[in-house]
Amino acid sequence: MVEFETLVNPPQEVFDQIVKYTSETEDWASQTGDYKLWLSSYDQFWLVTVVEKGLKYTTSGNYIYHLGTTNFVASVSLARWDGDDGPLFSIGMFYCVPKYRGTGLGKPLFQYVMDIVGDNNATLTGVVKMSPKYASDFGFDKYPEHWHLFSSAKCAEMVIPDKVSENYTTKLWSDVDYVELTAYDRTICVRNRKKIMSAWFNSVDTFSRVVLDKSGKIVGYATVRLVLKNRLSPAPFYADNLEAAEVLLKDLLIMIPDWQQYASFGFLYPECNKDPFEVLNKFSKRREAISTSRFIRSQFTRELISTPDNKVYSLSDIAHQFV
Ligand SMILES: CC(C)(COP(=O)(O)OP(=O)(O)OC[C@H]1O[C@@H](n2cnc3c(N)ncnc32)[C@H](O)[C@@H]1OP(=O)(O)O)[C@@H](O)C(=O)NCCC(=O)NCCS
Repeated sequence: MVEFETLVNPPQEVFDQIVKYTSETEDWASQTGDYKLWLSSYDQFWLVTVVEKGLKYTTSGNYIYHLGTTNFVASVSLARWDGDDGPLFSIGMFYCVPKYRGTGLGKPLFQYVMDIVGDNNATLTGVVKMSPKYASDFGFDKYPEHWHLFSSAKCAEMVIPDKVSENYTTKLWSDVDYVELTAYDRTICVRNRKKIMSAWFNSVDTFSRVVLDKSGKIVGYATVRLVLKNRLSPAPFYADNLEAAEVLLKDLLIMIPDWQQYASFGFLYPECNKDPFEVLNKFSKRREAISTSRFIRSQFTRELISTPDNKVYSLSDIAHQFV
């Protein structure tokens, strides 16, 4: 009989399995470096996991080999992010491997992190199937009208348009004034993300650019991450208008060596904003090549923090951010 044990902040190898499983079965787009990123950029961070107890062995002939792998079973992560408005908790990576789903392992894990949250405001992005349950069972009942859609295209079906706006230019994030960049971010997220943003930009396997208007004012920025299954994941992608977004996407794609060799590129955006689809359409060979589905909803327990949805082309971090 398999026995389970709960590990809080387990070794990296457990997180590596979470990234692999969630990519394979749910198409989530995490990177293995996210564990360290969250641990270092939030005020407190818990990765609560269930693993199969003991070490795994295999036999071959008369020999027993220790495989040295802790088999991952289920997880949830919790970040505490302090701000002028007090702490905001976020819950992510709620996942159970398919063979153990429905056996009662998930819900107690979720309760474990909710006990830490207590009466503080908490947020999560609930998938369509789970969203009503989070609201009814755990009080995540403050949310906007809209869902977030995921629209994606195969890179082989994409092309950089001949003509994009000449009213905007882009720069590397390291070539712009970081104070101005973080001030721009405050027009997207009311909370201070100075530390978190630099962690995104400094992550391995990412490409970031900032878009400016003719006067040199910052009007958007984005980071494209290389994630499992050979996908390009823009997270985040913000722009003040469609023209600026097109210039930003063009320059980002040019920056990525052999970008057309990747499997897909997709925006995760608020349904009320039609521009992300239009940008993708402009970069697609055929409109029909874009597939769109309803994916998640941003939910809060105490207070809904509003966001400028017309500027959001892709969420920054589905696990621990609300914009
Ligand atoms: C969501 C998930 C982690 C639940 O894990 P699990 O081990 O199957 O959960 P349990 O056996 O403890 O749950 C049994 C029941 O409680 C529900 N439940 C589990 N966690 C819950 C939560 N946090 N809030 C409300 N209901 C919950 C389950 O949906 C299920 O309800 P049902 O019998 O009406 O379908 C698992 O199904 C999974 O990995 N799904 C795919 C990934 C995913 O969608 N994660 C959620 C992202 S927002």
